[in-house]
Amino acid sequence: MRAIVCPRYGGPEVLELREVERPSPKDDEVCIRVMATAVTASDIFIRGSDIPLRFRIPMRLMIGITRPRRSIIGLVLAGEIASVGRNAVRFKPGDQVYGLTGFGLGAYAEYKCMKETDSKRGCLALKPANLTHEESTVAAYGGLLALQFMEKGDIQPGQRVLVYGASSTSGTTAVQYAKYLGAAVTGVCSTANLDLVKSLGADSVIDYTRVDALEPGDKYDFVLDAVGKAKTSRLKESCRASVSGKDRYVSIDDGSLLLDSGRLAAMTELVEAGHIRPVVDRCYPLEDIAEAHRYVEKGHKRGGVAVTVRQDVMA
Ligand SMILES: NC(=O)c1ccc[n+]([C@@H]2O[C@H](COP(=O)([O-])OP(=O)(O)OC[C@H]3O[C@@H](n4cnc5c(N)ncnc54)[C@H](OP(=O)(O)O)[C@@H]3O)[C@@H](O)[C@H]2O)c1
Repeated sequence: MRAIVCPRYGGPEVLELREVERPSPKDDEVCIRVMATAVTASDIFIRGSDIPLRFRIPMRLMIGITRPRRSIIGLVLAGEIASVGRNAVRFKPGDQVYGLTGFGLGAYAEYKCMKETDSKRGCLALKPANLTHEESTVAAYGGLLALQFMEKGDIQPGQRVLVYGASSTSGTTAVQYAKYLGAAVTGVCSTANLDLVKSLGADSVIDYTRVDALEPGDKYDFVLDAVGKAKTSRLKESCRASVSGKDRYVSIDDGSLLLDSGRLAAMTELVEAGHIRPVVDRCYPLEDIAEAHRYVEKGHKRGGVAVTVRQDVMA
């Protein structure tokens, strides 16, 4: 099968397209014929050599000290169940699924075997029937991040919610989820993304490249920082000060992302009911994945970046 291998840490050029052996599922695993994967902010941290120390140290302990222990990287996948191990009962061949591979990585390949139940090596659910596989990868990553960290806000109808970094994969999802919950939503993004964020349902938008502080007395019931601690601005500090109580300001970097198939299934329902639509910025073929890494590494993607692994459904 074709796979993208990352034999060492470094720039996007370290990624190599190779022919490797196709895996077979263990008894408690399923084998997924991967149709699409994604290049996320997390993939850049996994591959990169030039990432902040506070991310690099924990990442290397988990993924491999001198090089990735599992040379096929990739965190997000969408595809169909090709075969199942003898003890696997949740899915059957032909089921259309999406999910994350966690520490197991391996999503940059035509086939991926993983446990069908949640573990640190991934979670899976049936994908939204109304999305392509590429769109589903964006829904999986953005959905797991946005739902987990928004849930901390226990958002009630009518509350004022601000999403800082509303144009990111998680931010575009969070804006739509907060609207679904009945909140009055303010999205913070740059000039180029104001129209996009409004189109997702935000009641108001603020341009962090032009505005340094919220209006005096402008208070929010909940603020989500959807771009994490590495990206900041003067306005972000003002947003942090606009809530009362520290648990009303949540960064997407506060705690680990949980690989939770229940949350993925909830995302499937929200997407199928039309409440959330993933934003796909760009889509690359597998052989151009290094280009996708170069683009995502710049830190300005709008929504998510998907990668088509295979066009045909049959092996
Ligand atoms: N807790 C966990 O375990 C966990 C796991 C995975 C990811 N994460 C975090 O989740 C983050 C989000 O990832 P993502 O893929 O959704 O987004 P992302 O790719 O990191 O964010 C890209 C977006 O951020 C916007 N942006 C860049 N600089 C900004 C700034 N200073 N202020 C506001 N917006 C800014 C960009 O638009 P403009 O440049 O046009 O503004 C772009 O739309 C990651 O970076 C990581 O920190 C956490």
